[in-house]
Amino acid sequence: MKLFIDTANLADIEEIAGWGVLSGATTNPTLLAQVEGDEDDIYRRICELVDGPVSAEVVADDVPTMVSEGRRLAAIDPRIVVKLPTSREGLGATSALAREGIRVNMTLCFTANQAILAASAGAAYVSPFIGRYDDINEDGLGHLAEIVEAFAASAFDTQVLAASVRTPVHVMEAARMGADVATIPPKVFHQMLHHPLTAAGIDQFNRDHAARLARKDA
Ligand code: E4P
Repeated sequence: MKLFIDTANLADIEEIAGWGVLSGATTNPTLLAQVEGDEDDIYRRICELVDGPVSAEVVADDVPTMVSEGRRLAAIDPRIVVKLPTSREGLGATSALAREGIRVNMTLCFTANQAILAASAGAAYVSPFIGRYDDINEDGLGHLAEIVEAFAASAFDTQVLAASVRTPVHVMEAARMGADVATIPPKVFHQMLHHPLTAAGIDQFNRDHAARLARKDA
């Protein structure tokens, strides 16, 4: 499973990119609203930091405007993947952009049937949301599993991109079930890495090394 970062915060992207674990990035209007600066400049900088697909979301709500906005976003950088909602209009715009060779990530996908429609419209990625299901007391991972299973049994080229990831358990379970990609907030990357025994072990080794040097100097 490939790991994307789910943020528009450039400092966070730069930090996690430095770990060498990123294969792409995703943004959305809410994440962009949390940072300052020109949107296109932010997309360009993310593309410099992450050598992989970078999702940029369309905010129009009719097919012709979605298509022209999608074309404009795709022209910013060859890494840009246009993000469109899993709606009637989103499907129409996805199929139009896909015919032009522009990659689309269909977002706000909640069911296997929505994912099948997204794949059939030519989406390069479909983004089932996990956390927002959990928010309404439903099993987000269970819904993701249905989609992964349906896609494994079908001939779709579309990649399943686990989104709305809120916990390290979401990441681990998405990997176990065979999702192609998980897009992960910076905080969850840190939670995935941290283990108290690793931290304690590093401290102990450093203390022992310092003690040995001190003995040699004595
Ligand atoms: C990414 O593509 C999605 O927009 C994002 O993962 C949504 O996450 P949230 O449900 O935590 O806002």
